[in-house]
Amino acid sequence: MGQTDSMYTILGIESSCDDSAAAICRGGQICANVVSRQLDHAQWGGVVPELASRLHQVWVPAVVQQALADAKLTMADLDAIAVTTGPGLMGALLVGTCYAKGLAMGLGKHLIAVDHLQGHLASLFTPPINLPDWTPPALPMVVLTVSGGHTQLQVLRSPLQAEVIGRTRDDAAGEAFDKAAKLLGLPYPGGPELDRLAEAGDPHRHPDIARPDVPGLDFSFSGLKTSFRYYLQKQQQADPTFLARERPHLAAALRHRVVHNLLDKLFQAAEQHGVQSVGIAGGVSANVLLRRAFLAECQRRGLDGRIPPFAYCTDNAAMIAWAGSELHRQRVHADAYTVAYASGG
Ligand code: KG4
Ligand code: ZN
Repeated sequence: MGQTDSMYTILGIESSCDDSAAAICRGGQICANVVSRQLDHAQWGGVVPELASRLHQVWVPAVVQQALADAKLTMADLDAIAVTTGPGLMGALLVGTCYAKGLAMGLGKHLIAVDHLQGHLASLFTPPINLPDWTPPALPMVVLTVSGGHTQLQVLRSPLQAEVIGRTRDDAAGEAFDKAAKLLGLPYPGGPELDRLAEAGDPHRHPDIARPDVPGLDFSFSGLKTSFRYYLQKQQQADPTFLARERPHLAAALRHRVVHNLLDKLFQAAEQHGVQSVGIAGGVSANVLLRRAFLAECQRRGLDGRIPPFAYCTDNAAMIAWAGSELHRQRVHADAYTVAYASGG
């Protein structure tokens, strides 16, 4: 008996960096979404690749079991297993990819390879849990994907097909937040900490910190990072109480520069491409100022502005399961020869 498209049950697995995640998409809806964040990296001040791989070995099977239990399903109910095959940390990706391959082969199910960035785009189309009135964004759409490893602008004509129209020439926006947070002495993961601290600061109190300055739709954050570092060093040498006193204002200055540069380019791209619909995705889309300023500017311009729910902004498997469900519908499958890739696509 043939199954209708809407009935597919897809397990999604994500292990590209330091989050072990599993989710289930059934009939196009997310019915389980489990993430185990590897907080063990905090003591090292950043993600330790070998440690991430070892923790995924333990946590990937555990989050899969939890997702099945939450959805009240068994492995036998699955139609396919979707997994992030890249880009990311190679060892971390191999754990998820090999586990998914083993499951698919052992159970006789389809295997689906999902690109991590394709996943972040898919997060804009993944139905939030418990929001029955939610509708997907209209297409075409311009999307800004901002994460720890990537910063790019894309035009989407379908949820999984995107044309890159701008990208960073050096650091990703998340990397800029994380490195600046480290200079401010904030604990890892620095991006969210810097965001919290910046809420209490005045972004205009330190005008000498450089602004990102690249023409067109590309980005560059390394100049800002260097300027931030030298500014801090110089002021701290002149006055040893500077950092302790000015931390929230410095965080606010950094955040303001990154966020407004991202948004300037996003709305410039939306205008150039004549779209009515714009979105932001990836871990940095959890940033409070980015969300607030993005929604305000969308309202001012009369655009449909979309941000995924918090649970779909940072790394998660709901976006992978939903992308997998679309690829399964299109009969785009992987096999035992599918390999993980650290960069590119
Ligand atoms: O998408 P994601 O979870 O993982 C990657 O694919 O990289 O993004 C993680 C990045 C980190 O750099 C983290 O510091 C940043 O997203 N991030 C934030 C915030 N929450 C997460 N950056 C600024 N403000 C936040 N609230
Ligand atoms: Zn990510």
